[in-house]
Amino acid sequence: MTAVETRAARHIDGFKRMKLIRATAAIAAALAVVSCGDSREKWISEAIDTASFQLKMTAEKLEGTGELPRSTYTGYTLEFLESQIEGDISGIVDSLTPNPPAERVGTLLTCNIYDWTSGFFPGSLWYAYELTGDETLKQEAISYTNLLSPLRKFKDTHDLGFMVGCSFGNALRLSPSDTVKDVIMETADNLAARFNPMTGCIRSWDFGYWNYPVIIDNMMNLDLLFTASRLSGDPRYRQVAVRHAMTTMKNHFRPDYTSYHVVSYNDDGTVEFKETHQGKNDESSWSRGQGWGVYGFTSCYRETKDTIFLNQAIHIADMIMERNTAPDLVPYWDFDAPVRPETPRDASAGALIASAFLELSTFVPDGEKYFDYAERMLKTLSSPEYLAEKGGNNGFILKHSTGSLPHGFEIDSPINYADYYYLEALKRLKDLTR
Ligand code: GLY
Repeated sequence: MTAVETRAARHIDGFKRMKLIRATAAIAAALAVVSCGDSREKWISEAIDTASFQLKMTAEKLEGTGELPRSTYTGYTLEFLESQIEGDISGIVDSLTPNPPAERVGTLLTCNIYDWTSGFFPGSLWYAYELTGDETLKQEAISYTNLLSPLRKFKDTHDLGFMVGCSFGNALRLSPSDTVKDVIMETADNLAARFNPMTGCIRSWDFGYWNYPVIIDNMMNLDLLFTASRLSGDPRYRQVAVRHAMTTMKNHFRPDYTSYHVVSYNDDGTVEFKETHQGKNDESSWSRGQGWGVYGFTSCYRETKDTIFLNQAIHIADMIMERNTAPDLVPYWDFDAPVRPETPRDASAGALIASAFLELSTFVPDGEKYFDYAERMLKTLSSPEYLAEKGGNNGFILKHSTGSLPHGFEIDSPINYADYYYLEALKRLKDLTR
């Protein structure tokens, strides 16, 4: 073979090798897509199966009691709380939840309809019904939603959005009726009545020492107001929601897009002070609060298409991805909590961040990064470390949430809202990957 022929042969060999490599890579990629799709379908359907089993079991257990599942009784030691807060606990000792008697620890904690979390169990039943088409779940969803009907007269909290939005709001989507609409409208009136034009926001709590407390969680109650404007054609509910969101954006956030938990206002609308209630300290970034923020501003963008809200949601989402240092992504209870093996996680924060990120991923050109993050989070939450075994976990779906560590309440336990946002996120993931 001449030198030219050798070079040509090498070239042809190289070309063939290149083609072969490309063909092999294409086959591998196709197989990866198939197997990724396959395994995604598998873990999602296993998770939904477990969730449905747990929900039916709990629904049956509490039928006729007037109670709803909230969490599991947990205990604590002052040393542990102090080590997590990395400070002196004496200032908040008075507000600690008393330790339950030893025989209670690990048993089911229920609540009545006036608890801020009462909407989540009916809401979970609605999502499980939507995900499965199982009529038993629908009947339970109707029954537990109806239990909450007296809330239409309730005025004492901003949490009405959670309580009625997650229960009746899902009923409106999946089984609408005039009664459902009436409950939503009456509740929206009561929620909007908590708005004060001087402060520019809805008052959160009626208890405590604050003059006019507004918590970041309150962003989650705005959806109910947007729904009310859509149902009635009356723009006033929506105007309240938008003003509240603008005020929150102005006063709750630090320059790095982390947020304070509580901002209290003076009567003239100036800020009284900024602090935490459930986080590690006033300047820390309480994980669930960061989740409420990204979820709330994403919803505001969905409803208004105002990019000021989208940009806020993007900034918070990017901050979360940077600040959440948990190796398996399920956040520590506070982003500033000590990174130690015993530091409790908050699966509820993980679930609601995943749900928000999935929606956000549909609004931006580089949404894939939020989608991937959410999918990884949900996959972890669907692993045996976080997902209940059928029949266990006191009937809840997820393990390892934290309600309020500084109050010694619901530390490393299942909580009803973790289950709700987990199911919502699974539904969103399924819809986006169909
Ligand atoms: N809305 C109260 C909480 O997130 O714990």
